[in-house]
Formats: sequence, C-alpha cells, structure tokens
Amino acid sequence: NFRKDIRNVAIIAHVDHGKTTLVDELLKQSDTLDSHTQLAERAMDSNALEKERGITILAKNTAVSYKGTRINIMDTPGHADFGGEVERIMKMVDGVVLVVDAYEGTMPQTRFVLKKALEQDLIPIVVVNKIDKPSARPEEVVDEVLELFIELGADDDQLEFPVVYASAINGTSSLSDNPADQQPTMEPIFESILEHIPAPVDNSEEPLQFQVSLLDYNDYVGRIGIGRVFRGTIKVGDQVTLSKLDGTTKNFRVTKLFGFFGLQRQEIQEAKAGDLIAVSGMEDIFVGETVTPTDAVEPLPVLHIDEPTLQMTFLVNNSPFAGREGKWITARKVEERLMAELQTDVSLRVEETDSPDRWTVSGRGELHLSILIETMRREGYELQVSRPEVIEREIDGVKCEPFERVQIDTPEEYQGSIIQALSERKGEMLDMTSTGNGQMRLIFLVPARGLIGFTTDFMSMTRGYGIMNHTFDQYMPMIQGNIGGRHHGALVSIDTGKATTYSIMSIEERGTVFVNPGTEVYEGMIVGENSRDNDLTVNITKAKQMTNVRSATKDQTSVIKTPKILTLEESLEFMADDEYLEVTPESIRLRKQIL
Ligand code: GTP
Repeated sequence: NFRKDIRNVAIIAHVDHGKTTLVDELLKQSDTLDSHTQLAERAMDSNALEKERGITILAKNTAVSYKGTRINIMDTPGHADFGGEVERIMKMVDGVVLVVDAYEGTMPQTRFVLKKALEQDLIPIVVVNKIDKPSARPEEVVDEVLELFIELGADDDQLEFPVVYASAINGTSSLSDNPADQQPTMEPIFESILEHIPAPVDNSEEPLQFQVSLLDYNDYVGRIGIGRVFRGTIKVGDQVTLSKLDGTTKNFRVTKLFGFFGLQRQEIQEAKAGDLIAVSGMEDIFVGETVTPTDAVEPLPVLHIDEPTLQMTFLVNNSPFAGREGKWITARKVEERLMAELQTDVSLRVEETDSPDRWTVSGRGELHLSILIETMRREGYELQVSRPEVIEREIDGVKCEPFERVQIDTPEEYQGSIIQALSERKGEMLDMTSTGNGQMRLIFLVPARGLIGFTTDFMSMTRGYGIMNHTFDQYMPMIQGNIGGRHHGALVSIDTGKATTYSIMSIEERGTVFVNPGTEVYEGMIVGENSRDNDLTVNITKAKQMTNVRSATKDQTSVIKTPKILTLEESLEFMADDEYLEVTPESIRLRKQIL
C-alpha cells in the first residue's frame, strides 16, 4: 500500500547551478494556488546572506502540486558544517533531484551531499540545467554524472537515473539533450519524479511515529518541530507521547499541525504516514525525538546531530567606537538574540560566563559560527568576538581534542604539498586513491585545531582546484604542543582605518612577507602575523611597485591588482590570541584586545 498522492524529494546542486530558479519554476508551473504571489513575497524576504555567499544556509521546504500529487521539495545545504542537517533531510525523503549545470558538469562539492543521498538508498533524478547556454555540453556532463555515481558506490537502481535537460530560467525542459527540442514546460521533470521516486508506504492505520528532523520557531506558537510522519496518523487534539533523547518521555496534546503549500505553511487537522509536517504545542521538542501514541511508545532510532567542536567568546562591544553603528548593542539584546538562535539551531550551544556581558558560543565550525555572526550583524547587532578555539573534553580522565575526518580531492601535482602541510598540522593520512584523470583523493584524520586557518592555505596551495570537506570524527587524546603549519598573516590597512584584511601566504622570516597573488601591499599597512608560537607585526614603511616578485620586505613590496577581501571566516583564521573582531552593521574590524 503506497501513498500515491505524495512524493518527498530533496534537491541538491552545486552553488549557482540553478536550484532556486528550478524550484521556483516548478512552483510556477504547478497547480499550487497563489504560487506567483508567494514567489513575489519570497523574493522580497529571502536571505541576503545566502544570496551573497551563494550557499543555502536554511533548509527550506517547498510543496508543489502536480496532477493531484503533492511533491515536497526539501532544499539542502551543501557545506560540511551542516553535514548533520543534510543527513537528517536525507532521512525525510525518498529521492533526490540532482541539478547539474550543462556546461560546468559535476562539481566536487556536489559529491558531499550526493554521497549522503546514495548512502540512504535514495533514488536520484538528474536535471541537466542551463541547456540554453551556447557552451552547454550535455552528453559529456551526463557521463561525468554517471562516473560520479559509480565512484560513490551507487547501486544498480540508482545508476538507472532518468535525465531531464532543462533551462530553468526559460521554464523549458525535455528528455532529449538537443537544445532545439526544449518544450515550454517542466512536465518532464514532474513526470520523472512521479514515475521514478517511490511513493511513501501507506501504513497510516498503524500506531503513529512522527520524528522531528528540523526545528523552527515562531513568536505565536513557539517551538515547531518539522519532520516526517513515518507511520500512522496524527490529529489535532491527539494525546501523544514525546520520547526525549535522554530516554524520558513527556505527554502532550497536539495543538497545531501545519502542512506545506507552495512556500507557505497552513494549519491542517490531520496528517498521515508519508506527510512532511510541522507540529507545535510541545515547548522543548528537539531534533531526533519521536512522537507516538501514549499507549504505543516506540521511538525511532535517534538522528545524528553534529557535536560542537569550536567555540568563541561573544561579548558586548566595549571598544571606544561602540554604539555608533549598531541598533542592538546591550548585553540583554545580544543575549536574547543568541537564545532565539538556540530555538532552531541544534548544533549551537550558548553558555553564560562569569561576566554578564560575554558568552561562550560553540558550534560546528568556522562557517557555522561565521554565519551566525554575519546574520546578527546584518540584523543591526554590534558585538565583539574572540579567536575561535577547539573544544577540549576529558574522557576517562584523559584530555581529548576533536579530530576531523578530512577528505581532499585534488589534481595530483598538489598532493605532495598537501600531505606535507597536513602532517605539519599533525594530520594522519588514512587513505590515498587515484580517482582517474590525474585526480587524487586523500583522506586524513586531523586535529580540528590544525584546521583553523587551513582553508586559505589549502586554496592557494591547490590554486583553487582542490576540494576539501571535513566532518567531525571523534574525540581523541590531545596532541601535545603547538600544531604548526604555514604562518598566516593579515594585512590591516591603518590609513583608511577600515581594517580590510588581506591574505598573505606566509611570513618565512622576520621582515619577508610572501603574499598571495592578488594581495596589495602598500605603505602604512601593518602586517600582522600570527602563528601559535610567535606573533609579530611588521610595519610596511616603504612600498615599491614591483612586478613579478611575490615577496615583500619592510621596504619592498609586490603589488598585484585587486586585493582579495577576506571573508569573515578567513578573518577569524588570521586572528591572534590578543585580538578580537569588532562586528558592527557597517564593518568588521580587527582590533587589539582591551578586555
Ligand atoms: P544557490 O541557492 O545560491 O546555491 O544557487 P542556485 O543553485 O539556487 O542557483 P540559482 O537558481 O540562484 O541560479 C544561479 C544563476 O544561474 C542565476 O543567475 C540564474 O539566473 C542562472 N540560471 C538559472 N537557471 C538557468 C538556466 O537554465 N540557464 C541560464 N543560462 N542561467 C540560469
């Protein structure tokens, strides 16, 4: 018995391959009422940070209706810091729609999410998008996709994926790879979903099992648990039991249920096996918990939540310039905001400290915490943050630190420098395989501490061709001493006072600064280097324009145009222990600590 009226899919794509455009077009062409109004509303309040970074941060749910079948489409974040969330989303759905750019083909970043999907035995559909591009090479791209599937260990069912060629932007698609065959409809995509993605099993007569996979919060109804009804039926007014993660149970009455319609949520009275819904009425409902009937308590296996491994101090801005730019600057406001974040972000921890104006905030990694900081800044908050530190833990009397499993895909000419750099950072290589076409895959176990500051190094080491993903592996006994690595530096322009941070490849010895191509060095800049064991500051007293030289000394410099302005995470990597970032709605400045 199957719920033929439902399909649950997750949509995955590399940045900019057209996921959002495609989902919007599916919504437009579906029989979902008001889809145009909803799209206009979403365009207005969509997350600016997501747009800028080109990454999906918030998992979003869009439900479209096609020929009487409801298709729930879960948007999936693509970064390793959100690996736990990706895994939970993959458990809610029965298939995935992989969107691939018809010119760029498979990008290694897609791999991380696709691998999780294949591991869950999900059935894929491939949409080769942007077929309208003159440079499109659909045939080769499909071959690449096939290779990737094989490499990731796809089984026979998964390898028989249907391919639809589309131009999401034009609202056209076709089963043929000839751009001339494009039809002004998304029907082939809808039909492939209905035909290939399995409908959920209908066991709605059995006892209820609803599991919370994501959290949301809203001022009117409080905490909301989003998840899938895996079995049975849930109704408003039902007396149910919530099995908590700690093994205890709590009874509650279902006060509100929400279904997804287009981009909106609407109250519903009942939901059945296979439905993706949101439930409110239980104040401390949490990810992984199961709702069952009071007389048939049978929790589902606990879902994976990533452990926080990195912490930072957040404090009220006490710099001399405090309060000039921010709207929300007081300890009370900052604390309220952090607490609100906890309502929905399960990998985040916020702890009070001895002072009422500072908190220890722990999260999954640099990106995870940076996104919180950036979001607060954009909302008008002003604060300071310290250098990130890994979280140590005592296990059986042994001091331990977090280790990450790092997977690197790189052209083989860079493997030597990567292996060297990671061994300096106390990484242990677990595996090395050739993946064909001159590409290597390297797997390391690295103390999380050793990864702070590594991304920038890695990118320059591999000239941007390397792909690195890392996920928390386990806590292991602490490695003694400093974890070395390439030295980092930050260039802080004091003449503008704007403290733009630029990147430096390394400072090999006092006075000589090797800069990344793209870095501008000029008089009046302070070059601050920080490594674990020695900090130094070099004042650039004289800057000379020189070409073809990639080193700068106190009175000599190389200048290559367009300096790269570092992202917040990169700035965090460059911070010294006695520095903090002053974060305001207008800017992010690196300052000496005046705690
Ligand atoms: P993120 O959510 O930011 O990861 O990106 P995305 O995958 O959702 O991509 P998005 O839909 O934002 O599209 C990225 C860019 O590609 C936009 O500028 C789109 O206008 C463009 N685009 C999307 N679909 C097509 C297409 O079919 N053809 C062409 N030529 N451009 C497209």
